[in-house]
Amino acid sequence: MALLAIQGIAGALAAEVSIMPQPVKLEIAEGEMVINPKTTIILMDNSLRSTAQIFADDIAVFFDSKPLKVSSSHRKATDKSIYLALNKSLAAEEYSLLVNTNGTLIEGGSAAGVFYGLQSLRQMIIQTDGKVPYCTIEDKPTFAYRGVHLDVCRHFFTVEEVKEYIDIIAAHKINRFHFHLTDDQGWRIEIKRYPELTKVGSVRTETLVGHGGSSNEYDGTPYGGYYTQKQLRDIVKYAAERHITVIPEIEMPGHARGALAALPWLGCTDEYIPVWTRWGVTPEIMCAGKETTYEFLENVLAEVIEIFPSEYIHIGGDEAPRNRWKECPHCQERIKAEGLASEAELQSYLVARIEKYLHAHGRKMIGWDEILEGGVTPTATIMSWQGARGGINAAKKGNYVVMTPNSHLYFDFYQTETKEGEPLAIGGYLPVEKVYQYNPYRKLNDEEKKYILGVQCNLWTEYIGEFDHLTSMLLPRLAALSDVQWAENRRNEETLRPRMEQMRKLYDCYGWNYAKFYYEGRK
Ligand code: ACM
Ligand code: ZN
Repeated sequence: MALLAIQGIAGALAAEVSIMPQPVKLEIAEGEMVINPKTTIILMDNSLRSTAQIFADDIAVFFDSKPLKVSSSHRKATDKSIYLALNKSLAAEEYSLLVNTNGTLIEGGSAAGVFYGLQSLRQMIIQTDGKVPYCTIEDKPTFAYRGVHLDVCRHFFTVEEVKEYIDIIAAHKINRFHFHLTDDQGWRIEIKRYPELTKVGSVRTETLVGHGGSSNEYDGTPYGGYYTQKQLRDIVKYAAERHITVIPEIEMPGHARGALAALPWLGCTDEYIPVWTRWGVTPEIMCAGKETTYEFLENVLAEVIEIFPSEYIHIGGDEAPRNRWKECPHCQERIKAEGLASEAELQSYLVARIEKYLHAHGRKMIGWDEILEGGVTPTATIMSWQGARGGINAAKKGNYVVMTPNSHLYFDFYQTETKEGEPLAIGGYLPVEKVYQYNPYRKLNDEEKKYILGVQCNLWTEYIGEFDHLTSMLLPRLAALSDVQWAENRRNEETLRPRMEQMRKLYDCYGWNYAKFYYEGRK
């Protein structure tokens, strides 16, 4: 009877806390540590100060208090404290979290590992109102690349909003932020050498109202916005403090009407083409024949790599119809001079030249799967969006891949089948359950699997103009995705729902608007 009662208590406690994404090991013991605004965070290593401070500030929002004290004194505190330490026997992003009579100890292989341990601790504090059960957690991610994308071209989001977006993805242990900065509807990054890019290229005269596939109605209101280099450096620093690398995307040769409006000589005909006011794919792309296009791209990238320390630079490459190139003497001359067989090979020539430039500056290139079409270098990394097909083919050839298939990871898609109560979206149908079913390793053998660097969701914003709407497309689907990214080999559909329920408490705490469909049992 007594034994049953104890098991009953332990069972109740175990059900009370859950961690997203699913940890490798989570064992609950009897007893609890009270964590409150008076709890001190003690640094066993001074390099953990900013990581600790972020937690101290974030959890103070839950307590509605001043930030918790962060101390580097190794003197044993009289009250139970949260101790943060590095442990070189762990992998960089791995952590262990121990709560017992001595306090809480989080050890990470690096500051990133400690940061992830603190995210788990934050979840438990919010779930238990600060009465964290004694427990042992051991955890590490499946994928080295765990990405979330944001399109700020179709609609612009302020620096403060981008930082909040970074806060949200950090809470899901994401480590890459793919920042889509240039497109047909606006160029959003200051380039000092070409001030016209933001002066002219960041503003469209008006915006389509309704769906791109059917509407011809416009709002008559100019729309613009861009980030200065100073603001971008601030975003990069903010993300880095949260152990997130910002990967900038500069689109070429298509999705480039922001640039073409600013600098008409980038096109095949030199003709002025305005920043686009519609959504979709336009035939207006950069000329790949003229040498001036290459000079432009290298000059832009020279400034981009000074702002973004990321190993990877994303060069776009998607949805570039090659019709203009067929009629352009410069493009045809280039095809002849370089012995290329087709316009597709001309795009590959452009991409390979840009990759060479990036390599010469110590960076790696990543691009959308269309860059496979005219042949690709062995060193290019492929972002597979037209389903997984491009990614599977690339992995079989030995190219590294990030999987972002529109079948499972396009978070601009509708979340319910009936669309009832949903705002206008691009189309598609992607409920939480379908995100969770995504298998990044489908059709790959063990050797080929090694080329899957990771997984990312994409969030295009043609139909998303407000931040609350944006976060309701991201959440809670991102929570389900974080299990795919971090815990691919231990996903468990049975524990998903209770863990998703717990994540709502975190979203509510920070006022992050999320979609309710999953919680209402709608799909
Ligand atoms: C894409 O969705 N065009 C990459
Ligand atoms: Zn041309």
